[in-house]
Amino acid sequence: MKKTTLFLLSLLICAVAYAQPQLGKDKIEDVIAAMTLQEKVNLLHGCGMAMGTEVKFPGTAGSTYAIPRLGIPSVYMADGPHRLVMTPTRAFDSQVYNTTELPSEITLAASFDIDAARAAGELIGQEVSDYGLDILLAPGINIMRTALGGRNGEYFSEDPVHAGNIAAAYINGVQSKNVGVALKHFAVNNQETNRNANDAIVAERPLRELYLRNFEIAVKNSHPWSIMTSYNKANGKYVCEDRRLCEDILRGEWGYDGLVMSDWNAGRNPVASIQAGNDMLQPGQDRQRAAILEAAQDGTLDMALIDLSVKRVLEFILKCNTFKNYQYPNETDLKAHSKIAREIGANSLVLLKNEDETLPMDGVKNVALYGNTSYDIVPAGMGFGATGHGYYCVSLVEGLRKAGYNVDKSLIMPYQKHIEEQNKQNYPNGLPPFSITAPLRADELIPDAKTLEENVKNNDMAIITLGRACGEGADRTKEHFYLTDKEAEMIKAVADAYHAAGKKVVVILNVVSAIETASWKDNADAILCIFQPGCETGNAVADVLSGKVNPSGRLPQTFQVNYGDAPADKNFPYDYKFDMSAFARAFSGGSAKDAAERAERQAEHELKQNVDYTNYDEGVYVGYRWFTTFDEPVSYPFGFGLSYTDFSYDLEDAGMDSDKCHVTVKVTNTGTKAGRDVVQVYVNAPKGGMEKPARELKAFAKTRVLQPGESQTLNLEWDTDLNASFNEKKNRWDLAKGKYTFMVCKDAQSDPVLTSVIKY
Ligand code: BGC
Repeated sequence: MKKTTLFLLSLLICAVAYAQPQLGKDKIEDVIAAMTLQEKVNLLHGCGMAMGTEVKFPGTAGSTYAIPRLGIPSVYMADGPHRLVMTPTRAFDSQVYNTTELPSEITLAASFDIDAARAAGELIGQEVSDYGLDILLAPGINIMRTALGGRNGEYFSEDPVHAGNIAAAYINGVQSKNVGVALKHFAVNNQETNRNANDAIVAERPLRELYLRNFEIAVKNSHPWSIMTSYNKANGKYVCEDRRLCEDILRGEWGYDGLVMSDWNAGRNPVASIQAGNDMLQPGQDRQRAAILEAAQDGTLDMALIDLSVKRVLEFILKCNTFKNYQYPNETDLKAHSKIAREIGANSLVLLKNEDETLPMDGVKNVALYGNTSYDIVPAGMGFGATGHGYYCVSLVEGLRKAGYNVDKSLIMPYQKHIEEQNKQNYPNGLPPFSITAPLRADELIPDAKTLEENVKNNDMAIITLGRACGEGADRTKEHFYLTDKEAEMIKAVADAYHAAGKKVVVILNVVSAIETASWKDNADAILCIFQPGCETGNAVADVLSGKVNPSGRLPQTFQVNYGDAPADKNFPYDYKFDMSAFARAFSGGSAKDAAERAERQAEHELKQNVDYTNYDEGVYVGYRWFTTFDEPVSYPFGFGLSYTDFSYDLEDAGMDSDKCHVTVKVTNTGTKAGRDVVQVYVNAPKGGMEKPARELKAFAKTRVLQPGESQTLNLEWDTDLNASFNEKKNRWDLAKGKYTFMVCKDAQSDPVLTSVIKY
């Protein structure tokens, strides 16, 4: 043999001997077998948050660990849900990486529109993909247990069927773009106060029927690539350390086969997290890595569990664009996305009142705007899911002007000056970038009688906007539910002045979640609840006010008369004073001092109710389930929303077999304007020896735009299993035999427009 051939042959032998298995080319098991223990442990953790401007994706929430020798890249995650959260600027780079701000989750859910939820998901998924990221840390789907939940704006509904179906459509939209989601926050994450340690004490039945059911529906109908466990404990255990929730129920019962990751710095015991089936700890801390390594070495943590979680991480990475070396364009079609954001926004606004056809604003030309929020609209919530609002927001003034209205100029400067002064006073060090203290908007400016008189003379109509901003990190308090004295006084003064001249007053609710409306609504001729419609707020609102779009949103949450009317209200930190330093400590994983103090309180039996723990004494009676069953008055019920037109309904078919239930309804536009309608099907189920809510939502659907006289037949279908209740005594779901009443209702409290009784 020639010398050169020999040399080449030996080179080949060496290469084969030292060849490393490669992810994607070789079997996952072989890749895992080639890893050192330290590498495996590293893979179970994130690589920190991308805080600098020179990192690959500045301002994003996290990434996974890379092992280049085995062909394993880092993959990248950024927050949602209504905007891909990423710093738009980068060091030594003149390009600006803007992302579209969609309507917030509560707003999107108010559309009651599966197609809109999917479109929102597709849009944000496209941006994630276009900018080279892999995972969107969204959507959040926890139940709005009270009106004051700090993250209500980031969640969809008080009802699990509503939340689960909207979420599934959103997730399918995102994932259709070859990027993944992290469905969050699994589970029972309904309060922000002491969010890293609060223990939700919830019985098995509400746990199953409300707080898990939303996740179950979303998981089964959309197969999210990953699920994020929540900060809180449920019944004594951190969720991320609870094997029953993460493994037995999520994977065992629901068949979920994706990755489970923790919320950022959630939990206390990293070893317990891996043992529970929470595969990845984000964003990853040295102390966690050390603890897992030590437990693996001393045998406390089973190697098989580590390998299983590593396998899940690798399967997750394999799906990602970064792994596939996708050549992303690094720009996205922002213009087209703004158009979609506007359509979704307008489609989500909820008309609560419309006396004497005040709206649309036919014949109105000149309008005067009152309320600070009219000049400082809130496009979205606060918190990481919303950090730094989008790159633009169409103000109400701009939206109205573009729609052809004259906005009274004399009020603009005084309001702007007033807002500036208030901000200076409330935030002497500048506006907080991340408003965890759930501020009330600045004190209202009440125009004096002379100004009002002038305004009334010069305008055809008054528009008042009430605003509430809030988000991650703090709950709202009772104060935020009610109007301030000044707000109430302003509404009264404006209404009196305009009504005296026979002119109308419209109130816009730019709120993060339900507020009090019962005491003042008589003063308004029309009320439009817009929640937070995102970057196109002004345009979307003008579209509905002008009648270009007929409103078709429905409330995803009950607007109760008073705080305290819902049974959960007393078991919620409704008057908790926000403690910034405790929040900051908890955010970075909690200090040893906090843990010691808590242990001391525990030993002394002095745990603080609604702070250290929260009792879910209301059981399944959350939201409309309470108000409707016990016939308690509300200001506006769940599912409520008016239109500029009318609809009639014909029942074409209804049925229930062991697998599926269905209701087929023909909806006809009987009014004079084109519009869309929402059909909501509620079921009253036989008791089967258990107490049950009078009705529960099982399905909903939205028509296309129907012209006057036009009809559409909708077939609403749901799994018969959804009619079952969880029997705590028998520890199983029970589908009672007897009479099922299927009701098509305009909202959760009104009399049904159609009824079908089925013997099962
Ligand atoms: C939030 C999550 C978010 C994560 C990463 C946490 O504080 O609870 O919703 O995805 O931070 O930014």
